[in-house]
Amino acid sequence: MMVTRVKPSRLGSGLTAQISRSVGETSRCAAGLARRLQGGDTVLVSGPVGSGKTVFIKALARVLGVRPVVRSPSFVVLASYPVRRGDRIRTLVHIDCYRLKRRTELETIGVRDYLNSGCSLVAVEWPDQFPWAWPGRRLVRVSLKPTSKTTRRIVIKVPAGRA
Ligand SMILES: Nc1ncnc2c1ncn2[C@@H]1O[C@H](COP(=O)(O)OP(=O)(O)O)[C@@H](O)[C@H]1O
Ligand SMILES: [Mg+2]
Repeated sequence: MMVTRVKPSRLGSGLTAQISRSVGETSRCAAGLARRLQGGDTVLVSGPVGSGKTVFIKALARVLGVRPVVRSPSFVVLASYPVRRGDRIRTLVHIDCYRLKRRTELETIGVRDYLNSGCSLVAVEWPDQFPWAWPGRRLVRVSLKPTSKTTRRIVIKVPAGRA
């Protein structure tokens, strides 16, 4: 089996870009990011249908020791999971905005409490449905762009000053 190393390239100002050639590589990329995350962070994961948003968030969850396995919340909108590994993050919240029409629906499902909590990690699919809904600080942006059936260009932007 050939193992391809994904070598991220630094673009400055907290931006990193890389090409993933498989689900495994996308998962490894997410795992690398997970180790740098803190409670109170919000990870906005953008990209078209099938670009790997759920794959990415599942891998984040795995590194945090979340069980059961994270499913796509497309039908439930919000799912929260206790985090077993590490003390910085106690809850992983997975939100999928795809089916939400109004921001009030987002408020109804209790997003605000999670966003204000310093020990929750909030991971959001389709965040651009509500671009103004996410607090300005502690935002991590992940963009997944399919470049072929099995390749994705992944660009990650972490908050200024983050190691
Ligand atoms: N390099 C890759 N990274 C992530 N997913 C990939 C990759 N190549 C192919 N895929 C496939 O793309 C699909 C991504 O699905 P999913 O994560 O549910 O997408 P989304 O949540 O963005 O709609 C999966 O079927 C996965 O097997
Ligand atoms: Mg999804």
